Amino acid sequence: MTLNIILLGPPGAGKGTQASRLEDEHGMVQLSTGDMLRAAVKAGTPIGVQAKAVMDAGELVSDEIVSGLIGERLDQLGGDVSVIFDGYPRTAAQADALDEILDVRGRKLDHVIELLVEEDALVDRITGRFSCATCGAGYHDRYKLPKVADTCDQCGGHDFKRRPDDNEETVRTRMAEYRAKTAPILPIYEARGIVTHVDGMADIDVVNDAIELILNSATAP
Ligand code: AP5
Ligand code: MG
Repeated sequence: MTLNIILLGPPGAGKGTQASRLEDEHGMVQLSTGDMLRAAVKAGTPIGVQAKAVMDAGELVSDEIVSGLIGERLDQLGGDVSVIFDGYPRTAAQADALDEILDVRGRKLDHVIELLVEEDALVDRITGRFSCATCGAGYHDRYKLPKVADTCDQCGGHDFKRRPDDNEETVRTRMAEYRAKTAPILPIYEARGIVTHVDGMADIDVVNDAIELILNSATAP
């Protein structure tokens, strides 16, 4: 059975962390518009050039660009792959676009999982975040250090990096964008009865267990 789920939550809520667990454990595919845009910035594509300043300021890139990226990526994947939307949709226009994108590809949204985390914890998480420069595995200065110091658990790399938008000032703008433009799309999905709220303040493993329960409920007879 092919699943299509949205992980919704403010910056630092744990969307990327949980999406990558679902990739590793269930072969689902994470579709993170943030990761796609960062790859475009790194490659210097026209989309990347356009997006860089917007992302560095913590504001939202245009709906057309991100919905275009999602449609393209779904086409590359084919129809029989389960996907996790991470950081998309983020506006009412993107929620509408996603309905259309899924519909024309014969997919339907199964779950919207909202990760609930207190605002102070978000700043703490984001300002402590770093990742492996080789494979992208995510870490945190206090909550998720590599098992062997300065060595990536996943690929053994020794080079780590931090995101340019992971500073306190930009994080506050990103949160304001979330409150103003993203949180208001939740009622669209609540009206369809597909939203589940998960305590994102819990340990990473506990959050993962809660998400597993939700996904299993989709496959129950
Ligand atoms: P994006 O990359 O999507 O960033 P974001 O939404 O701000 O979310 P983050 O990636 O910061 O947080 P996360 O929820 O993935 O948390 P993570 O798992 O890493 O977007 C970046 C920018 O791109 C946007 O600002 C915008 O400009 C643009 N953009 C992207 N999509 C767009 C769209 N659709 N429309 C328009 N513009 C778009 O966890 C954070 C840290 O906390 C990690 O260090 C992790 O180890 C730790 N952690 C995770 N879970 C826990 C836990 N349970 N307990 C303790 N620590 C934890
Ligand atoms: Mg993320």
